[in-house]
Amino acid sequence: MSVQTAKVIAMAGKGGTGKTTTTALLIKYLVERGLTPVMAVDADANANLNELLGLEVDTTMGEIRDRMKTDTPQGMTKSEFMEMHIAQAIIESTGYDLLVMGQPEGPGCYCMANSILAQVMEGLARSYRYMIVDNEAGMEHLSRLNLRNIHTLFVVSDPSARGVLTAARIADLTNSLGVEVENKVLMVNRVPQPVPEALDNHVKEAVAKPDRKFGGYIPASDEIFDAEMAQKSLLELPEQTEAVKAAWSVFEKYLN
Ligand SMILES: Nc1ncnc2c1ncn2[C@@H]1O[C@H](COP(=O)(O)OP(=O)(O)OP(=O)(O)O)[C@@H](O)[C@H]1O
Ligand SMILES: [Mg+2]
Repeated sequence: MSVQTAKVIAMAGKGGTGKTTTTALLIKYLVERGLTPVMAVDADANANLNELLGLEVDTTMGEIRDRMKTDTPQGMTKSEFMEMHIAQAIIESTGYDLLVMGQPEGPGCYCMANSILAQVMEGLARSYRYMIVDNEAGMEHLSRLNLRNIHTLFVVSDPSARGVLTAARIADLTNSLGVEVENKVLMVNRVPQPVPEALDNHVKEAVAKPDRKFGGYIPASDEIFDAEMAQKSLLELPEQTEAVKAAWSVFEKYLN
């Protein structure tokens, strides 16, 4: 049985809905509330979480996995090689560390690399209070990380009727992946103010099933737009920013 001490929080949702943005706001929340140490995992093959955190990436887990196949020196096991290099790939920052998964395996079976990776991830999870996983659209990468339990899955949606219904369906996919999810929480992002009543009705319908919860609305934000344009870290946004306040009040309900 796997021992997981870090509470795993995962972000899911369609492309471009705001998964990485909300991941950055979540890291900001945990760090500023002292709910540390936090391990942030960028599980998107087109990794960009580091940019929203103002960090440079040297190497990824994918690169280490590929090097393991050819570069493991004699007298060292592949497992030892992975462990050593993964430790070097962890980017340390204040209150949190970042690990970038990088490209998934190409054609051919690298089952061993994956099982070593899974083992190392499991070991890592023991040294952190929270593990935050930013995903790309789709849910397969969650199985790649071999996580058995997710404390909270935030499904981020755009403010549209079809968007919120799709988000609800994405939340259901975890069942078929064999991952236990304690909280499935819908967040609707980039919402116009005031919140249109029609959207509110669609949200109610989308979360009608008992295993789904509605976290809240995050407004469309000029501050996030400006930070993105200036390529500035979202960690620097003032706490009073409306979108930050809205996101944090969602996080507060599930994480403490
Ligand atoms: N609340 C918001 N207000 C304004 N802009 C936002 C907001 N949330 C996200 N954005 C912008 O929307 C774009 C997409 O956001 P983000 O990259 O977080 O989405 P994503 O779901 O991670 O996308 P992908 O599926 O490509 O990984 C970015 O340019 C981001 O700055
Ligand atoms: Mg993203």
